Amino acid sequence: MAYRREDIEAVRAATDLAELVAEVTKVKRSGRSVMAVCPFHQEKTPSMSIDPARGLYHCFGCGKSGDLFRFVQETQGLEFSDAVELLARRSGITLHRDPEAARRRDRRQVLVDATQRAVDFYVERLRKAPDAAGARSYLRGRGYDKEVVTGFGLGYSPAGGEALIRHLRDHRINDDVAVSAGLAVRSRTGRVFDRFRGRIMFPIYDLRGDPVGFGARLLEGDGPKYLNSPETPIYRKSRLLYGLNWAKSDIVRDATAVVVEGYTDVIALRTAGFGGAVATCGTSLGEEHFDLLRRFTERVVLMFDSDAAGQAASLRGFEHSVPGDLDLRVALLEPGRDPADVVAAGEVELVRAAVAGSTPMLQFRLQTELDRFALDEPEARGRAIRATADLVALHPDAVARHEYAVFLARRTGVQLPVVEDAVAEAVRRTAAPAPRRREAPRPAADGRVKAERELLRLMLANHGGLQGIEYGPDLLSDPVHVSAYELLRPALEGLGPGEPPDLGSLLGGGDDELSSMLSSLALERRPLDEPARVVQTLQAEVLEDRIQVLKREVAGLDPDRDPEAYSERFNELIALERRRRELRSNP
Ligand code: UTP
Ligand code: MN
Repeated sequence: MAYRREDIEAVRAATDLAELVAEVTKVKRSGRSVMAVCPFHQEKTPSMSIDPARGLYHCFGCGKSGDLFRFVQETQGLEFSDAVELLARRSGITLHRDPEAARRRDRRQVLVDATQRAVDFYVERLRKAPDAAGARSYLRGRGYDKEVVTGFGLGYSPAGGEALIRHLRDHRINDDVAVSAGLAVRSRTGRVFDRFRGRIMFPIYDLRGDPVGFGARLLEGDGPKYLNSPETPIYRKSRLLYGLNWAKSDIVRDATAVVVEGYTDVIALRTAGFGGAVATCGTSLGEEHFDLLRRFTERVVLMFDSDAAGQAASLRGFEHSVPGDLDLRVALLEPGRDPADVVAAGEVELVRAAVAGSTPMLQFRLQTELDRFALDEPEARGRAIRATADLVALHPDAVARHEYAVFLARRTGVQLPVVEDAVAEAVRRTAAPAPRRREAPRPAADGRVKAERELLRLMLANHGGLQGIEYGPDLLSDPVHVSAYELLRPALEGLGPGEPPDLGSLLGGGDDELSSMLSSLALERRPLDEPARVVQTLQAEVLEDRIQVLKREVAGLDPDRDPEAYSERFNELIALERRRRELRSNP
């Protein structure tokens, strides 16, 4: 159901979010601020902040946020329109349909329905038609049994050029729809033909599992090996990942998405029990693909055969070479072998091993960069260090920068202090105010790193001021800081305020990077900052992260196609930016 905007706004205005939240969890009011025990994660003290005036909530613990409709959706497992209906009933508001929004949705449905007809037609042809014998034996040869063919909806498009369009006409789907859906093409003379002829058909589904287009592999004869649907209102390759509709639950469970090259890789991996694989559909990996994946996980592993890897270093995704809001990694397979080949040889374990042993994108990029230089010459070593120092400088964590400097020194034979100097110089240079690209991950500002370390110092001292304050690992952006937090927090249990934990026994045999950081922090003699101030600074950073994510999401959404998601994010963004101003104006 699509309802009129003004009705939805009336429901919003008539509903008290704090009241709504109080029906499912404990709510604490003090003055204008309302805090609730977050219903989306385990906690005892409230860290979900509620803005009743604007009907928005945000949990500083787990990061969940949204408006009142989202709250009802998430707590009751409802669709947006169901949540609107439920709240409208509560406040006695009558809802009216929005014919415009309904029309847009109907239009989409018409194209999806036509595509579904085409899927069914191609499937039927593959199963029975005499002219599909070659396709059947090809698929058998690839090791695709009936279950695979059915599961992925594989089909065959007849070579003649009019079989599908006739079939669609028989089902009262008119030629304009077939052309708009990318299933048919209109010639100059106005005749309409099938777009796909004599090919094995791989239906492509969107996130909801609706068929929106095809990848089509040539069986024999001339022409491109793979042909894809053209861009249509329902098929936008920059926003689609093949297999994500099946993979999303595996991706969430494993907290890892694996990006492979093509349809056959996804199918092979999934069939072999490796479910978290997706592929782009005839385009390179772009920002919107990352946005899509980020909804399910931060850890994204790009899988290449090691021949293709060097060339892949020019991919757009490689802009994400430093940890930002994505933990982007590279997994390499043997030269000349794609995941489909590896699985066909019964070696899916090699794929698992490659994912488990994947390299951070930055390390991979540094290695690729070094490979370009003849490192036995002094000048080449100089150029190599300059080129790579610029990359290392982008890393937000000083400890990691040091580790990468060690890596470079080892690989090039240049003395470590010289490499460190080059990195430091590059850091100074890149720290100069330069216009930041929209896509660039947000580098952790020095202030943030300092505040994170300050929180750890406060914990190391078991500062009494920490007692009454709510703080958690979610305030920390640096994984090493998070590990330190996780080591320290339980150690503080049972100690009196001001009674420091025993660092020696904590670190005994611990992880090296971690112990050296903690011991150096423990040794700093500066006076400690005020705990409340430190935590507030960190909260502001978390807020800033969320704002950046929202900005990207808003920029990537089409308000006409997805008005609810758009305005939801837009409203949230406005509210968060206001909160940010408040935080800044009363420190
Ligand atoms: P392959 O070239 O390995 O395709 O590309 P294949 O169907 O497995 O062919 P053979 O049997 O090895 O020769 C692997 C994936 O890359 C994508 C496809 O998605 C395919 O599944 N691809 C390949 C394209 O999108 N376009 C191309 O031109 C080639
Ligand atoms: Mn192949």
